[in-house]
Amino acid sequence: MKVLALAASNSRKSINKTLVTYASEQLKELRDNVTVEVIDINDYELPLFSTDREEELGQPQLAHDFYNKIKSADGLIISFAEHNGSYTAAYKNLFDWVSRINIKVFQNKPSLFLSTSPGQGGASSVLKSAETSAPFFGAEIKGTLSIPSFFDNFDSDKNQLTNKNLNRKLCEVLINFHGLH
Ligand SMILES: Cc1cc2nc3c(=O)[nH]c(=O)nc-3n(C[C@H](O)[C@H](O)[C@H](O)COP(=O)(O)O)c2cc1C
Repeated sequence: MKVLALAASNSRKSINKTLVTYASEQLKELRDNVTVEVIDINDYELPLFSTDREEELGQPQLAHDFYNKIKSADGLIISFAEHNGSYTAAYKNLFDWVSRINIKVFQNKPSLFLSTSPGQGGASSVLKSAETSAPFFGAEIKGTLSIPSFFDNFDSDKNQLTNKNLNRKLCEVLINFHGLH
């Protein structure tokens, strides 16, 4: 059983990448026969989408590569960074390109959506928006969790979600990640 994990951020120091990597490690501890590949959306950087560029470029290979990564996975974990209440431009740009291959970008994969930010909101606006639109894009949402105040709740030196209550909630969504056989 193969899980694909990514942060919807192109920041080199992405806290969402830290979170999704931590969640992936926890998932492997909690569940047998699970492998997780954590990818970086910087490896799928594309020109700024427009229909004009699409006419020039067609469907770029990197967009197909990203789409095929999702295709070959049995499940997805995505942790969303929030910029001004919404997706980061980098993630939205990649998503727009891939949506032209197939509007069902998530290809009916069981999915966990996470989010975090340094503030108390925990990027919950973008998480809500991703969750609400997920069925339209073919994601089967199996759980969501926002981690507020990342730097108060996650110890980067120990690589651990030190807030016990949040850690318990994360374990719950990972254990309930059904659809993964
Ligand atoms: C342009 C910009 C807009 C931001 N807007 C929000 C926001 O709306 N909500 C929020 O919680 N954090 C916001 N932040 C702070 C981000 O949550 C913070 O930079 C976080 O580290 C982003 O996640 P990442 O490290 O995974 O990229 C914003 C940051 C930037 C640079």
